[in-house]
Amino acid sequence: MDLAPLEDVVTRIEKAEGLDRTADLAAAALRKVLPQQGPLTDLLSGTPIGHPAHPALVLVPVGAWVSATVLDLTGGDARAARRLVAVGNLSALPAALTGANDWLTTKGAERRVGLVHAGLNYTALTLQLLSSRARRRGHRVRGATLSAAATSLVAASGWLGGHLAYALGVGVDTTVFEQFPVDWTDLAAEDEVPLTGGIMREAGAVPVLLSRVDGSITAIADRCTHRGGPLHEGRIADGCVTCPLHGSTFRLADGSLVSGPASRPQPALEVRVTDGRVAVRRAEEPRTLRTNPVGV
Ligand code: FES
Repeated sequence: MDLAPLEDVVTRIEKAEGLDRTADLAAAALRKVLPQQGPLTDLLSGTPIGHPAHPALVLVPVGAWVSATVLDLTGGDARAARRLVAVGNLSALPAALTGANDWLTTKGAERRVGLVHAGLNYTALTLQLLSSRARRRGHRVRGATLSAAATSLVAASGWLGGHLAYALGVGVDTTVFEQFPVDWTDLAAEDEVPLTGGIMREAGAVPVLLSRVDGSITAIADRCTHRGGPLHEGRIADGCVTCPLHGSTFRLADGSLVSGPASRPQPALEVRVTDGRVAVRRAEEPRTLRTNPVGV
């Protein structure tokens, strides 16, 4: 199968700088209604469940809308189809909120693709709302036609959503392909690690944040799992580091997540101090996808 036309479409969207003005306006409006940090941001980001919430939440409206269209096409029960459209419309709200929350922390090509993805979804929702109204008034054929058009848009939007996640890596733990050293690797002199704050050193080509907690030296991945922010440029206090980009906070001792919008913890490394030198090595078994990793 020749996928070139699809690639051509998405590449055009990625490079469409003309979308940036609209994206700026949309982002400014969203920032007035969506918090950037705090419990609601964590909830929308999927911090409590360890993965982004948006991909899971879209299953409900998409499933309900597609099911309604199947009933329409097969002459199924009209009332059931009407209810399914209504369920899809209601469940589109949390899906839209989580998507908007995630989109606010993207930029460049990812933000443009996300904007088109959202535009298709909002158009589909509008069509489904019109479909709902038509169905309530007894116009099933009109409602079914509107729903079918909406479902087609959702399919296109879903493809763009897949591109965002699987090709552009939005929502993926940005440390997942980093290969930390298997063997003890010298990173710094012990007295180079400050008593407060931290320093970044590279293990191979993988950045590592060295700091101290209760006098002991700790090491975690320097690249924020959320969108790759450099943690050594963040704020270090109370045994935690706060990412300079969007404010996720991680414990320095073990990389565990204190608050989002990140949904994954930072990888922590084992630390050894010998003769005034600090060495680190990875603390976990390598995973299959890391056998030919980046950063080595
Ligand atoms: S990159 Fe977003 S919180 Fe770190």
